[in-house]
Amino acid sequence: TELAESPFNQNIGKHPGEPNVMEPALLADPFTGYGELREQGPVVRGRFVDDTPVWFITRFEEAREALRDQRFANDPKFAGNGNGESPTSRMLEMMGLPEHYREYLAGSILTMDAPDHTRLRRLVSRAFTARKITDLRPRVEEIADTLLRRLPDHAENGAVDLIQHFAYPLPITVICELVGIPEADRPQWRTWGSQLISVQPESLREAFPAMIEYIHELIRERRAALTDDLLSELIRVHDDDGSRLSDIEMVTMVLTLVLAGHETTAHLIANGTAALLTHPDQLRLLKSDPELLPRAVHELMRWCGPVQMTRLRYAVEDVELAGVRIAQGEAVLPLLVAANHDPRHYADPARLDVTRQPAGRAENHVGFGHGMHYCLGASLARQEGEVAFGKLLAHYPDLTLAVEPDTLQRIPLPGNWRLTALPLGLN
Ligand code: HEM
Repeated sequence: TELAESPFNQNIGKHPGEPNVMEPALLADPFTGYGELREQGPVVRGRFVDDTPVWFITRFEEAREALRDQRFANDPKFAGNGNGESPTSRMLEMMGLPEHYREYLAGSILTMDAPDHTRLRRLVSRAFTARKITDLRPRVEEIADTLLRRLPDHAENGAVDLIQHFAYPLPITVICELVGIPEADRPQWRTWGSQLISVQPESLREAFPAMIEYIHELIRERRAALTDDLLSELIRVHDDDGSRLSDIEMVTMVLTLVLAGHETTAHLIANGTAALLTHPDQLRLLKSDPELLPRAVHELMRWCGPVQMTRLRYAVEDVELAGVRIAQGEAVLPLLVAANHDPRHYADPARLDVTRQPAGRAENHVGFGHGMHYCLGASLARQEGEVAFGKLLAHYPDLTLAVEPDTLQRIPLPGNWRLTALPLGLN
């Protein structure tokens, strides 16, 4: 229904031969749909949600090349659609939000380029050092244990929705604790989070200003009594020297971290669990050897990662990629899902193989992106994944899917591979 009501549906099929990311076939089975485009070529013409013409980058090597190439900018001001309008202005117009909010959208690390991106990334990277993430592990385990012990209390007709009662609460609790969002406000964040990604103008119009106001208020409160959370750290940096971190950047950073930090990880946990339960041989392997967990997380990210495309990038000058000329102002869209299943890079890419990846930290997929915008929370997300799968199987070794696999529903959002629910039998 969400899809049927979307104002963007009118764009589907408008330009024959230029597939729109909202097309039902691409939403239902992006692996096949974008896989076919990948076999047409590494750089293929398509359309974004709002009908913006884009170049899909479909293959592993070319996707990495595009994501590394600084001639492709994230700032939508480089978008030249011929009408001087960027997708950001159209988005604001569609939401019916005042101009003022443009600054918050523009203040996000995701829509910035060097040197501002470098400055912000350096500031916030301090909170995401390997050491800090490792230190957090016992707390992540504790939160997972608590949630898992309570799972049976949520059973209805013998089944528990893993998304509702584990996959969501685990990462949102972790990121809120890290950032410093009070426990009582977490359900509100979850509501805002789903409103924001809903592609529904009214929901966006409601959620966006509310979140921004909330963060401003939280900053006012926290300033009176700084702690050791990330918010306090950002306030210290800001108050120490406003040229290092502006007011709006501070608010947008908190917003980005909370949103980027929970929805994605929740769906890695859900997709991964569903994948393991429908591949009993792989599940058995993992249960017999928990040392495989880090590799299994790499492989699940590749095989069914929750983020299937990056944001749009815009050519700041004419660029040639894989023999295709991309003109200044045109948009490219790296298709992580197609790259992660590129037969030029992986033997038998459709096969789930939890022993596939090299051990340790080495990562052989683009599910977290690549280049300077490579996911800031990747090591946290991987750790949460390892803890989630490990603890889930330890608590409930006889876990089963409570419904037929082909009845599982996905949320029809381009670039997001998300189940609506994952009903499990705990046995
Ligand atoms: C960037 C995926 C978890 C924070 C990205 C990008 C991807 C991604 C693909 C690059 C986007 C682009 O280049 O356009 C994921 C996935 C996750 C996950 C699949 C979980 C499985 C997290 C977590 C956090 C986080 C837990 C925060 C704690 C960020 C931030 C950026 C980012 C701040 C922007 C980095 C920059 O622009 O320099 N993520 N992410 N992500 N992610 Fe994640």
